Amino acid sequence: MSEKLKIAIQKSGRLHEGSLRLLKECGISFDNGNDQLKIQANNFPLEILFLRNSDIPQYVEDNVADIAIIGQNLLIEKDKRIEEVLRLGFSKCRLSLSVPKNADYAGLTWFNGKKLATSYPNTLKKFLDKNNIQAKIHEISGSVEIAPNIGLADGICDLVSSGSTLFKNGLKEVEIILESEACLAAKKYLDAKKKILLDKLIFRMKAVLTSRNNKYVLLNAPNDKLDAIKKVIPGIKSPTIMPLAEKGWSSVHSVINENDFWEIIDQLKENGAQGILIIPIEKMIV
Ligand code: PRP
Repeated sequence: MSEKLKIAIQKSGRLHEGSLRLLKECGISFDNGNDQLKIQANNFPLEILFLRNSDIPQYVEDNVADIAIIGQNLLIEKDKRIEEVLRLGFSKCRLSLSVPKNADYAGLTWFNGKKLATSYPNTLKKFLDKNNIQAKIHEISGSVEIAPNIGLADGICDLVSSGSTLFKNGLKEVEIILESEACLAAKKYLDAKKKILLDKLIFRMKAVLTSRNNKYVLLNAPNDKLDAIKKVIPGIKSPTIMPLAEKGWSSVHSVINENDFWEIIDQLKENGAQGILIIPIEKMIV
């Protein structure tokens, strides 16, 4: 049997949907209709394992999987012999310290002598030690936000994304310990054949991620404004410029970054651009 790369992804949880979407956008087809825990991709030598989030780093270290899509927060917390190979830009969140909303919080020293509930004891301990805070860590595996309300802890250290879970539980975020997003992580030493497959997968993922951050732009511009417009939308190498049937006008095609979108559109309009079309890009190889 030819060599397959084994990827672990979340069985359920915040990264599950984004992980499946990314694999599909990489052109990897698979059928996961029956809630199976292990499936084979149809058109790429990839085996997909659906595992419990917090177990994934250990499974990679133990060779059950070669690579994984996990949160950077988990990678740091578990500190196994696996490393981040690509940031994936989705499931952004932060690991934060939060306290009851009425607490008189003036700074980190508030936590001295306090009891903190968390599913991230290692990361929290390092943070407290670094800041010379003496607090008691109480490890729990889920529903951490309830801990202060039931008298189990004075504060918590947990993931925050929208902040709605904190709000619903009468807590406020007071310190950010780390920012996190989904990443592709791999065993530190993969054999040569698997490394080739991993590089192919990374190449595809980069093409998908780059395209997500960029848009294709088409517009009509008066010829005497082309130099100014070329400076606003320089594109990857340079914009494509073609004459329109109407004399004195050209069609300009280029690529723009999503983050600069509205600013660029304003500048294009100021330079006489008309009929501006913005089109999503499916894959982008630079
Ligand atoms: C995290 C965290 C909170 C919630 C915060 O749980 O534990 O419960 O997300 O998100 P919010 O700020 O958008 O409300 P997650 O869904 O990752 O699952 P977990 O309980 O397994 O950590």
